[in-house]
Amino acid sequence: MASERTLILVKPDGVQRKLIGTIVSRIENKGLNLIAMKMLQVTPELSKQHYAEHVEKTFYPDLEGFIVSAPVVAMIVEGPEAVSVMRTLIGSTNGREAAPGTIRGDYGTSRQMNMIHGSDSVESANREIGIYFKDTEICSYDLALGSWTCARDEL
Ligand code: RTP
Ligand code: MG
Repeated sequence: MASERTLILVKPDGVQRKLIGTIVSRIENKGLNLIAMKMLQVTPELSKQHYAEHVEKTFYPDLEGFIVSAPVVAMIVEGPEAVSVMRTLIGSTNGREAAPGTIRGDYGTSRQMNMIHGSDSVESANREIGIYFKDTEICSYDLALGSWTCARDEL
């Protein structure tokens, strides 16, 4: 098992609905570690970089309009298999299909306004982290209770 980093966004609808704290709590309660965090306004240029794989799709103009419509909160989350653990915690893209107990399943019914982004692979995570954060914005620290959240051979 490897410790991974993943890029998480609280999307504009999550900020507008005052779900930042709820989403951060879900991540902290799961036992993953926050190592970077900031609020920012996504620009059309940044959106095209982030969602490069979707730029040519028919839904892209709506996606861009949505993601630039209010600030987002960007975070780097670290921990064992953080990419897939976060995707499971987030749930399916469409809130109507997302399982109860997931963030999208518990707080929404929309496919576009689904509150949270999580990288879909380690490669995507590294690319997206580079888009949103400078190296100097990423923190490295030991957690005092770290040895009580995961066995040594799981890290
Ligand atoms: P995300 O990248 O934001 O974490 O979401 P995801 O992996 O679950 O979904 P993805 O396929 O990467 O789509 C990115 C975002 O585009 C919007 N979307 N709209 N109208 C449509 O068919 C459609 N499909 C996707 C959603 O906001 C989705 O989160
Ligand atoms: Mg995606």
